[in-house]
Amino acid sequence: MIQTVKTIPELRERLGVWRVQGDSIGLVPTMGALHDGHLSLVRLSKQKTARTVATLFINPAQFGPNEDLDQYPRDIAQDKAKLEAEDCDLLFLPDGGEIYPPGHVTKVRVEGICDILEGEFRPGFFTGVATVVTKLLLQALPDIAVFGEKDYQQLQVIKRLVRDLDIPVVVEAAPTVRETDGLAMASRNAYLTPKERDIAPVLFGTLSQVAENVGRGVSAKDQAQWGREQLERAGFGKIDYLTVRNAETLEEVDNASSPARVLVAAWLGKARLIDNVAV
Ligand code: PAJ
Repeated sequence: MIQTVKTIPELRERLGVWRVQGDSIGLVPTMGALHDGHLSLVRLSKQKTARTVATLFINPAQFGPNEDLDQYPRDIAQDKAKLEAEDCDLLFLPDGGEIYPPGHVTKVRVEGICDILEGEFRPGFFTGVATVVTKLLLQALPDIAVFGEKDYQQLQVIKRLVRDLDIPVVVEAAPTVRETDGLAMASRNAYLTPKERDIAPVLFGTLSQVAENVGRGVSAKDQAQWGREQLERAGFGKIDYLTVRNAETLEEVDNASSPARVLVAAWLGKARLIDNVAV
């Protein structure tokens, strides 16, 4: 079974041995319930570094009071087996007290980008993410850390904090892994009923069409409106946002003169699905 450590000193000891041997180290932070999207990050890390460490921590700080912390899927035995099958070198599996010991009050807040889109609908979410990711990076001090484009805004927040805090790590972005019908793999897809699961691929289909049309010069505002109508017609519930943004700053754009990204968050039954596509 994959080697597992639960404390920061044990993690540092293991990594120290590898570093002395001259091995480069890649870090893959996750919240578990691993699927092929997560495992693609492990594969990318293994291509780039001699050693790959996955972390599994369901970070309470990034869940709002009315969110799904208690229901979030958990299957540590299966996660370990999947990491083992990928030949991942180490799993860091801290408990809550290891990451947030009594008295922990410091937070990392990335201004601006963390207040829009996801940040608007999930207040405090990105501060929770930024704080835990900063801690994991400083605990492991890896050469690279891999994050998925699936959570595109999260990726931009992490790139920003690494630059702003001069953390000596290269952030690698991994493309979104999808089911054959286009639905982005996500742990929360488990909340979909079979009927909702049939509707879900409309999300990616619509985003792709919006991206294509905006790329051809059609107004981004009009296309976003069209996209929202498509989702409503297909049976989606509340659409938190469907919008075309600058690919780095995530500021609003109305044409694709600079690199742009179409981003969406929409409810389907009990599941809140997010996805994004490059223009
Ligand atoms: P989690 O949702 O478990 O995702 C862990 C990593 O897997 C993230 O970098 C995410 O973008 C990536 N990922 C998820 N689904 C993917 C897919 N279909 N294709 C490619 N990559 C995918 O994101 C988090 O956890 C947390 O916020 C975390 C960064 C671990 C901090 O707590």
